[in-house]
Amino acid sequence: MDRIRIVGGKHLTGTIPISGAKNATLPLMIASLLTDETLVLENVPRLADVALLQRILGNHGVDVMVGGKRPGDGEYDGQTLHISAKRIVDTTAPYDLVSRMRASFWVVAPLLARMGQAKVSLPGGCAIGTRPVDLLLMSLRALGAEIEIDGGYVLARAPHGLKGGEVVFPKVTVGGTHTALMAATLARGTTVIENAAREPEIVDVADCLIKMGAKISGAGTSRIEIEGVSRLDGARHRVLPDRIETGTYAMAVAMAGGDVMLAGAKPELLQSALDVLVEAGAEIAATNEGIRIARNGAGIAPVEVVTAPFPGFPTDLQAQLMALMTRAKGTSHITETIFENRFMHVQELARFGAHIKLDGETATIEGVDRLKGAPVMATDLRASVSLVIAALAAEGETFVNRVYHLDRGFERLEAKLNACGAAIERLSA
Ligand code: EPZ
Repeated sequence: MDRIRIVGGKHLTGTIPISGAKNATLPLMIASLLTDETLVLENVPRLADVALLQRILGNHGVDVMVGGKRPGDGEYDGQTLHISAKRIVDTTAPYDLVSRMRASFWVVAPLLARMGQAKVSLPGGCAIGTRPVDLLLMSLRALGAEIEIDGGYVLARAPHGLKGGEVVFPKVTVGGTHTALMAATLARGTTVIENAAREPEIVDVADCLIKMGAKISGAGTSRIEIEGVSRLDGARHRVLPDRIETGTYAMAVAMAGGDVMLAGAKPELLQSALDVLVEAGAEIAATNEGIRIARNGAGIAPVEVVTAPFPGFPTDLQAQLMALMTRAKGTSHITETIFENRFMHVQELARFGAHIKLDGETATIEGVDRLKGAPVMATDLRASVSLVIAALAAEGETFVNRVYHLDRGFERLEAKLNACGAAIERLSA
């Protein structure tokens, strides 16, 4: 298996282009199942998760054509996917595919809405917690679906089509909101989603669905209203920039020191994280080109952070912030409220010499003067990249094992960091 070698202690200076958002791309690709016309997605990142979802959709009979490079395209420009679900040949999503990527469970909604049935494997647990799908199924039931669970599969049926209804989520769920939103676009009548997730990726998917002819209002607020239509058309849509990739590189610069332009990044997508970085001592400026982040000379100040649904501090940046706080001048507290078990980076950060104590859902991080490189690994992509951040400021060499996890969510990580002066290379096994 590939691993990454990092020699710490280099400042980062230059430009890092921000890719299209993984967590918008995946539901957008899944939304292609709602129409028999072609959905064209631009600015799609080259990631292992995107390739895997291409395979999963292929299993349902979806054709995905990847557009070639056009003259003038830069090396970091995203791909263009032409996705056509003209004929759905199979409404089953098998265990061996769904178990590899949780988000693929979301195909249940468009398959049910368009075909009246779906058989989708339960995704099971994962490294960051138990992650049930009860709320996703609750929302489909609210739209009139009959749901049974048999042999590890969810069998969903709506032989006479889905009917608009009221979906009230008892807690904010991104996947639940995507599911309810997609299903409701083709349901008869009006659906109201209460306590909807307000994440920018929900808004991006809603914008695309509206281009496809869906009638949606309120995306980005906690109350979304959808008036069902009988069919959806094709559309062309550009994926929004990845706010988690943006925040990750911002933390990397805050950790290593330097001055970097995060090109194409949009500050309004991650204001809470930028506020925390300013509190920690980084300088941040929004420009037409993107977000410029610098930390020169000053040390890192400790912070108190609690993760929360958008617009709060994202759980997907919690591990990266913890890595940064290992070098703070004082004690920080980070509380994880979204996933009960998203702390596997704690033990690995300790290998660098970090001082972190866990008490329930709160980590207390006592900043240390120096970190030392070490062999490390993690089983989740955000945890893996937090180890890269620690390595950038650690003395000597670090080897990050199980690089597969990084490839799931970070496009050309080594190239982007090296272009700014980092010393990071991939070693093939
Ligand atoms: C999405 O996962 C993201 N994945 C995750 O990003 C992200 O961490 C998460 O939202 C929270 O922001 C994608 O967009 C592909 P949830 P999702 O439903 O939709 C509980 C990454 O690193 N819950 O918002 O699966 C759940 O257990 C990934 O890119 C139920 O109890 O998350 C959790 O505690 C990892 N029942 C909370 O809700 C349900 O039926 C929020 O989960 C569904 C969820």
